[in-house]
Amino acid sequence: MPLREPSRPVVPGAVDSVLDLIGDTPLVRLSRLAAHVRPQVLVKLEGRNPGGSAKDRPALQLVRDAEASGRLAPGQAIVESTSGNTGIGLALVGRVTGHPVVIVHGGAMSAEKRALLALYGAELVEADWAAAPDDPDNPRALADRIAAERGGWRSQQYDNPANPGAHFAHTGPELWRQTGGAITHLVAGIGTGGTISGTGRYLQQVSGGAVRVIGVNPAGSTYGGGPAGTIRVEGVGTTWPPGHWPRNLDTAVPDEIRTVPDGASAAALRGLAEQEALLLGPSSGMAVAAALELAAGLDERHVVVVMAPDGATNYLRELADGRH
Ligand SMILES: Cc1ncc(COP(=O)(O)O)c(C=O)c1O
Repeated sequence: MPLREPSRPVVPGAVDSVLDLIGDTPLVRLSRLAAHVRPQVLVKLEGRNPGGSAKDRPALQLVRDAEASGRLAPGQAIVESTSGNTGIGLALVGRVTGHPVVIVHGGAMSAEKRALLALYGAELVEADWAAAPDDPDNPRALADRIAAERGGWRSQQYDNPANPGAHFAHTGPELWRQTGGAITHLVAGIGTGGTISGTGRYLQQVSGGAVRVIGVNPAGSTYGGGPAGTIRVEGVGTTWPPGHWPRNLDTAVPDEIRTVPDGASAAALRGLAEQEALLLGPSSGMAVAAALELAAGLDERHVVVVMAPDGATNYLRELADGRH
């Protein structure tokens, strides 16, 4: 009798790669921190994505869409100018999909993020964040040059529709399912605008316009209508005037935009750690501060969901030093 190849057992509990672990993040009720308000306040823990932030979702979608449309060829380099979570997401996705990743940053990157990027195999190139857009040392200009020299692909998270597309296709439906359709308010910080535009648009559509979408803006950012200043909360806000905001911010989606003073963001971040044992990133403190203020004017029928884009791991030293 001929020898037959032994068939491999089916293992239903395993996934094929870390990319299959992106999304389906948990939702936790702030039972203590929000005990003084009448609505339920729930936090979506995006730091539970494998790369540690919400940015794993758009990173995967940016790469998948570019591969599918032929803009990103097998083995072609991904080049992006970012000092944030998108770089880590792209580095993770690039590792698994076989694309080298070059991250150009403006020098203000935490030691934790540098270490993560290096461990994911990304190449780090330092530019001058203060250089004018036409200066070759400007981060975006340098990323463009490196992409041109190496035949790399620029993912363009601020303009590429795959960024809000990931949140429309995944984050929004997850929240609708996890809340059993009971969500009445979505609260999210605005950086590129991808999270609020994609998640908010989906929830507005599926609820027939019943879900209210609240954007959150840090002090010093112009999204809330105030003057440009110093932004201390990482990953959110802009100092550009309205005509120069990212294309991925669909200004028709937020019903309102609230600005949170830095002190209130820091107090909420401490409250999350002390009362809920939730160690989150600074922009989560900002969003929770806005949600608690909003919830104070609502009642028992309301369910407020706050996006927490990342956890404390990327900021451990700053947080331990009391810089937030
Ligand atoms: C820590 C952090 N919070 C919030 C955001 C904002 O998300 P979005 O870019 O989808 O508006 C980002 C995005 O860069 C981030 O890195």
